[in-house]
Amino acid sequence: MRRAKISIIGAGNVGATTAHWCASAELGDVVLLDIPATEGMPAGKALDLFQASPIVGFDAKLTGTTDWADTAGSDVVVVTAGIARKPGMSRDDLLSTNAKIVGAVAEQIRDSSPDAFVIVVSNPLDAMVQRAFQVTGFPPARVMGQAGILDTARYRAFLAMELGVSVEDISAILLGGHGDTMVPIPSCTSVGGIPVTQLIAADRLEAIVDRTRTGGAEIVGLLKTGSAYYAPAAATAQMVEAIVRDKKRLVPCAAFCDAEYGVGGHFVGVPVILGGSGVEKVIELSLLPEEKAALDKSIDAVRELVGAMGRLTA
Ligand code: NAI
Ligand code: 2OP
Repeated sequence: MRRAKISIIGAGNVGATTAHWCASAELGDVVLLDIPATEGMPAGKALDLFQASPIVGFDAKLTGTTDWADTAGSDVVVVTAGIARKPGMSRDDLLSTNAKIVGAVAEQIRDSSPDAFVIVVSNPLDAMVQRAFQVTGFPPARVMGQAGILDTARYRAFLAMELGVSVEDISAILLGGHGDTMVPIPSCTSVGGIPVTQLIAADRLEAIVDRTRTGGAEIVGLLKTGSAYYAPAAATAQMVEAIVRDKKRLVPCAAFCDAEYGVGGHFVGVPVILGGSGVEKVIELSLLPEEKAALDKSIDAVRELVGAMGRLTA
């Protein structure tokens, strides 16, 4: 049986680390692509990673390239191409540059891997996944964005730190855009099956939600030279795994929503079933009034972002 072919566009921090997680979990053969100006960088990273395989014990072919022909016929394409956020720069500041980069990348994916599933990671995420959808013309089930698994993981990690429990016992979900308006759903957050509101005071929970909303900026402020990549890459690899292993994971992803949640044709972070057919179902939760109001606000922010992108790229 042929191994899945996973192409990762952008061999920088998130791309290379996603390659690391995907190869070490034997999700498939990995092609790392970057722009010609990077010369041997993607090939060097791929070779270095392959040389770890006898030590760690994984079988995966790793190719680094600047030639799109090497990505032809990919099953999954992960898009991390673009510039990353620097200190003081918001995700939205990235809009103009990354819309051009993701548009050009999406044209190449459409032509070289017409049957691929596309997972967009580049920021601002909710607009970039819309851009990839517009340019590839792929069906909505095959285009999605990674943000919700990362945001939810940060929330789970902070809750575990606060409560002194294993991260494995925290079950939670965050909805909405990958921005300051992301929406935690306390009614869907539990610790070992116990509603989180029974274990933590409302003000502490609110502080953790706030820290989660600015979780990306917190890492940028610490690193100073770029943004987070270990957790973003792990989240992306989880999406790749759900597809190539047909896991039917119920995870939050930026998925195309039309009637769902009243979104009207945009990509927003919602719970989905992710499997071998891509986004197989968008799950519609019945939300508390305050949760619904927060989600509506987040959806408005996504609409504004996509509108701004449309004006910039017209
Ligand atoms: P990075 O700067 O380390 O890597 C980006 C790579 O993209 C560079 O190697 C660059 O040469 C390459 N690139 C630029 N234009 C390209 C093109 N046309 N074709 C192929 N490759 C191209 O940045 P990093 O840290 O890997 O972040 C990548 C993107 O992911 C950024 O936009 C960042 O904001 C975003 N991000 C999104 C997250 C999410 O949860 N959605 C989390 C973390 C980062
Ligand atoms: C993050 O949340 C920068 O979007 C990226 O870390």
